[in-house]
Amino acid sequence: MADLSTTFTGIRFQNPFLLSSAPPTESESNILRAFEAGWGGVVTKTIGLHPVVNVAGPKTKFLRADADSPHLSMKKRPGAALHSSWNWELISDKTLDWWVPRLGRIKKAYPNHILVASIMAGSGNDTELRHWQTLATACQNEGCDALELNLSCPHMDRQDMGSNLGKDKELVSIVTKVVKEVSKIPVWAKLTPSTTDIVVEARGAFLGGADAISSSNTFTSLPLFDAETLEFEVHVDGFVSTGGLGGPAILPLSLAKMSQLTQAFPDKSFSGIGGISTFAHALNYFLLGCGTVQICTAAMLDHAVGPNVIRELNDGLRLFLEKHADKGWTRVDDFVGLRRDRVVAQSRIRRPDEKAYHGGHETAEGYAAPDELV
Ligand SMILES: Cc1cc2nc3c(=O)[nH]c(=O)nc-3n(C[C@H](O)[C@H](O)[C@H](O)COP(=O)(O)O)c2cc1C
Repeated sequence: MADLSTTFTGIRFQNPFLLSSAPPTESESNILRAFEAGWGGVVTKTIGLHPVVNVAGPKTKFLRADADSPHLSMKKRPGAALHSSWNWELISDKTLDWWVPRLGRIKKAYPNHILVASIMAGSGNDTELRHWQTLATACQNEGCDALELNLSCPHMDRQDMGSNLGKDKELVSIVTKVVKEVSKIPVWAKLTPSTTDIVVEARGAFLGGADAISSSNTFTSLPLFDAETLEFEVHVDGFVSTGGLGGPAILPLSLAKMSQLTQAFPDKSFSGIGGISTFAHALNYFLLGCGTVQICTAAMLDHAVGPNVIRELNDGLRLFLEKHADKGWTRVDDFVGLRRDRVVAQSRIRRPDEKAYHGGHETAEGYAAPDELV
């Protein structure tokens, strides 16, 4: 019998599928609906202590591609396929006081579903670092099962917050350690993909005591110009700031980041995010070594909390396990990381003529000998 449940960072999930921190998890009613629909867990919209006011215009738009032309646009039109989501939405505009009683109520209503609180503060001084502890303590006191540190929001001006913080390995380490000092529940660090080598920041998080890494948040990006009006397709008074790209376009990009992470830390826990809308997509993350996956864009477009998406994910996993039952696979853990080592250096890929290529750095190919390359 297929068993959809899994244990991740010591927590038992009914299934390995979570709604990621975003509009689908911004309210009590949404989270209750999500659990009812069958999601194994949710990560709340990020909770902070700083008041947040969003832009005077749409916060999220969807870029679509035509089937029969290279046209890409956010304009709604028949027959177009989803390319990506673009957003410049800040963290939750609700206060911690608003969230606290709701977290408690959600957990009481659904004790067996996993509630992860996403939290975010600054890191520029001790007061800011204590804010992380205030948030962590308040959420765990309400029964939250884990904390996810938002070290990756791409639209923050402050240098000590969001992806600006997440690009600094020392700050990543310090913030993680500060939260770990007060937390009795697992701490996941959500990293930004907008760095040169995500392994560096992940090492910082693990040194600080992180129990898992979540990746990816959205990729820094701009909306496109409308060729007729010469205005961005999303703007306020003609202006934009960089926002975050999610959805199908980032699936391969996010997988490349995840592959780096799981190869560098094969014994650690990872939650895969980016471009997932079907079990076939999620399977990529499992095969690379993720124990759970998270979904945002696809759920936003499916009745706000993704009832059809989670049905397909659960059915897909069940069918996959049945199909591979002859291999002795009965649960996700039986195939997590199975293809992690299939990503190798270019020079390790077979050539038509093995003797013709030496990895692009051998003297036999006419390159300078290593000691001449100073
Ligand atoms: C409108 C919107 C708001 C988001 N807000 C948050 C947030 O508050 N905290 C966070 O960690 N990630 C946030 N995200 C990022 C998502 O959780 C997720 O990492 C990203 O969208 C990639 O997943 P996807 O391709 O399934 O959309 C947001 C994404 C969108 C589209």
